[in-house]
Amino acid sequence: MAALTLRALLLIVNLTFGVGLTLDTISGDPVQFPETEQCRERGATLQHTLTGGSSQAVARLEDVWKPAAGYKDRMSPNESVVLNRSNINDQGLYGLTCGSEEKRIHLNVITSSERSVPEGQAAGFTFHYFTAGGLGRYRVERNTQLVFELDLSSGSTSQGSGFENRTSVAPHWRSDGDLTLTLQGVKPEDRGDYFLYVLKDRKRGHLQAVRMRVSPALNTPEERNREQITCPPQPPCKEKTALICVSVAAVLLIAGAFFCGQKMPRICGSKVSGGAAAGGAPTGLEMPPYTDTPVPVVVNGHA
Ligand SMILES: *[C@@H]1O[C@H](CO)[C@@H](O)[C@H](O)[C@H]1NC(C)=O
Ligand SMILES: *[C@@H]1O[C@H](CO)[C@@H](O)[C@H](O)[C@H]1NC(C)=O
Ligand SMILES: *[C@@H]1O[C@H](CO)[C@@H](O)[C@H](O)[C@H]1NC(C)=O
Repeated sequence: MAALTLRALLLIVNLTFGVGLTLDTISGDPVQFPETEQCRERGATLQHTLTGGSSQAVARLEDVWKPAAGYKDRMSPNESVVLNRSNINDQGLYGLTCGSEEKRIHLNVITSSERSVPEGQAAGFTFHYFTAGGLGRYRVERNTQLVFELDLSSGSTSQGSGFENRTSVAPHWRSDGDLTLTLQGVKPEDRGDYFLYVLKDRKRGHLQAVRMRVSPALNTPEERNREQITCPPQPPCKEKTALICVSVAAVLLIAGAFFCGQKMPRICGSKVSGGAAAGGAPTGLEMPPYTDTPVPVVVNGHA
């Protein structure tokens, strides 16, 4: 549940929006209707109001909440109504009938863009808005907590706790409407779902979402230099070793063939050279019985 709350479910209890409760979810995430957890009236229902005014049953409370026909593939019987894999058609108004009580819940399903920012780098959240009118407040929230706010009429700003002195918009926002937010020095704890919108007449407009991940920090230039000093010498070293190996093998081979041919002409046939090279023995005289191992093995080992 904690994971669900943090990751997916963004709950805004704001009666000023006029619909009771507003839930935000990012498309594809599960969405939980928290009010259903409090309702314990057998026979309670959750209905989705469709455009045109008709409504569709979502779930019904028996001993637990059970999905209606159209939701069985996305909802498991549970203490509360949780729709797995929310989609854009889930958007809209829901009615919870709990005994004699009626509650209205508004669900926003928002498509988000994903972003991965290396730790320590700056993140940019693109946002453009008609600012010439100078009305409303531009707000950025992370997991429902304030990150940044700009009053479009006075130009005054405030920053959320943990984001002090790290957020800014370009100074010319008033003339070009570019409200792209820059967050400096991204930290691992900055990861999460960012919502950007303009609050005007108690309504959120131009709502946009960005799911930000924080990837490991890029190496500092010094670290990268150090890597270049310590790592690259290895391949040349290996090449050199291999070169020496091949040279030694060639020398041994010739020496072996020479000694062999001189001292044991009968035993040493054409296969002698192969044995000398593979065995790596110092001279042909002390070699163990020859094998059929072909010479190229040494070279293959290198190639
Ligand atoms: C049941 O509901 C809880 C939240 O109340 C949620 O965390 C959990 O994933 C749900 N389980 C299933 C099977 O849907
Ligand atoms: C919904 O998600 C929960 C939690 O991941 C899972 O346990 C449950 O089986 C899912 N239910 C359906 C019907 O997909
Ligand atoms: C932000 O900057 C102001 C002015 O430079 C400074 O007084 C304040 O301590 C800073 N706050 C944080 C959280 O760094």
